Amino acid sequence: SVLEMEVEQINKGKYDHYMQKEIHEQPESLTTTMRGRLIRGGSRKTKTVLLGGLKDHLKTIRRSRRIVFIGCGTSYNAALASRPILEELSGIPVSMEIASDLWDRQGPIYREDTAVFVSQSGETADTLLALDYARENGALCVGITNTVGSSIARKTHCGVHINAGAEIGVASTKAYTSQIVVMVMLALAIGSDTISSQKRREAIIDGLLDLPYKVKEVLKLDEEMKDLAQLLIDEQSLLVFGRGYNYATALEGALKVKEVALMHSEGILAGEMKHGPLALVDENLPIAVIATRDAASVSSSGSCRAIEVPQVEDCLQPVLNIVPLQLLAYHLTVLRGHNVDQPRNLAKSVTTQ
Ligand code: G6P
Repeated sequence: SVLEMEVEQINKGKYDHYMQKEIHEQPESLTTTMRGRLIRGGSRKTKTVLLGGLKDHLKTIRRSRRIVFIGCGTSYNAALASRPILEELSGIPVSMEIASDLWDRQGPIYREDTAVFVSQSGETADTLLALDYARENGALCVGITNTVGSSIARKTHCGVHINAGAEIGVASTKAYTSQIVVMVMLALAIGSDTISSQKRREAIIDGLLDLPYKVKEVLKLDEEMKDLAQLLIDEQSLLVFGRGYNYATALEGALKVKEVALMHSEGILAGEMKHGPLALVDENLPIAVIATRDAASVSSSGSCRAIEVPQVEDCLQPVLNIVPLQLLAYHLTVLRGHNVDQPRNLAKSVTTQ
């Protein structure tokens, strides 16, 4: 109806699409995610993390033999981005499970496991099924969702809300960056009893507090990413390479491009390049390489273009690095004339198996 259309335009504000609005809103959504959770505490006024929904379970989590991340799509990728810091700060082995695959295999889950369910909607059928399964097997179940009162929020033993605000665009953007920030805070909370990593944790907390400003800087690449999208408009395929903290960025960047721009795209662990994917590479295939520490470079073959983002603490770099790729996917979609907020065949929340 006309009324519905008007309401929608009001909700989108100055933006043409929800996805665009949600990409540009990330400095604010990240601020909300962190609000009240990074505090100065103790006699020496050190900076610590306070996650209210977890504090009574931290001891149990620290004693677990394994932490298993379980999710689908973008939520899985966010967990993957957080895996290295969780391993580093907790010293506990962290494994990754795609929810449907864990269920298909009826993979081993034990009482000594902490199972972390990551879901923006909190209603994804595959993730819910894996949750019931992990509960039956006696694991401590932690939920990380964006939806208060959702099934996953209710059925887990404890959890953290990401507080990113409603996400309307089917392709997840601001929820992804907020999920990473929550999981970095989770790693800080679990590791907070270790004196030897105190300096490292404080540096990460400082980095977190600064992150919204850094994201704001990266968003200035909008026009540059639009130009790059213009170059890629007629391509068939885009490969995205990354390793370490950038492996997740490669997967998530490629997921954005295929979801909304309807272009074939694959995220590839750079260490595996020489074991197969290199065979695809010729002088015409567009390739994006996420190569931060120095500066992130997104390059298209032939003419090599470098897109620079600020350097931050390694575990926070994925939050910045995905932003240019979100912008690229967005502009590519608009230029190719596809539906940005509701890509064909996809749903925001997949409640069937
Ligand atoms: C669907 C959506 C994706 C999302 C995935 C997991 O496929 O289209 O954007 O990442 O579900 O959703 P969840 O709500 O569990 O994070």
